[in-house]
Amino acid sequence: MILEIKDVFKSFQQPGAGSLDVLTHINLSLSPGQTLAITGQSGSGKTTLLSLIAGLDNPDKGQVILDGQNLCGMTESRLSQYRAMKIGIVFQQFHLMPHLSALENISLPLEILRQKNIQEQTRAMLEKVGLNDRRHHLPGQLSGGECQRVAIARALIIRPALLLADEPTGNLDIETGEKVAQLLFDLVEKENKTLILVTHNPNLARRCQKIRNLEQGRLI
Ligand SMILES: Nc1ncnc2c1ncn2[C@@H]1O[C@H](COP(=O)(O)OP(=O)(O)OP(=O)(O)O)[C@@H](O)[C@H]1O
Ligand SMILES: [Mg+2]
Repeated sequence: MILEIKDVFKSFQQPGAGSLDVLTHINLSLSPGQTLAITGQSGSGKTTLLSLIAGLDNPDKGQVILDGQNLCGMTESRLSQYRAMKIGIVFQQFHLMPHLSALENISLPLEILRQKNIQEQTRAMLEKVGLNDRRHHLPGQLSGGECQRVAIARALIIRPALLLADEPTGNLDIETGEKVAQLLFDLVEKENKTLILVTHNPNLARRCQKIRNLEQGRLI
């Protein structure tokens, strides 16, 4: 198993109100090569679940085990190292570095991991997402869909064992969205990686081997 989630709970204190149980009794296991789509209404907890899987937040109860290691309880520095090696994340709000160019945002994970051939790998990835002619733009100088493609390129560039994508084609036109989706599925198929895709798009969800709906805190 690349990912095991065991009986995870997460609630948030609501501003001005009581606490909200966003996730209750979440269980999930995925092996290499598997693809899972998570659907569910706005506010159902999809992004919250991805944050727990990425170790960006801790569950109140339960375990998140990535490639045999329990993320809960790892020190912050060990966790960021582990995350950098194993997980590619495409955030719903992109979270690009505003002061870095498209090219620099994409190559950053390679720099952090001190990989070789950074220039060549970044060039090839810029080509794949169709942003070669925008490579020196800062995120503020790019369109929403261009930022989204930078975010996807940055997630894919380390060829992570686990790829988490939160509405990865939400800002893209049909044709570009199709190209970008193909990049995600290509990585999974050719390199036996694992993909968790959050989407409201039924056509995209159907391309995954499994579909789970988040409803009232549970994966159905
Ligand atoms: N830090 C927080 N503090 C309080 N409430 C939060 C916090 N983060 C999320 N929530 C609440 O938890 C619920 C789930 O949020 P989440 O972002 O996971 O939803 P989502 O399924 O990703 O929705 P969307 O489809 O709109 O992106 C929401 O009702 C949200 O208001
Ligand atoms: Mg969300």
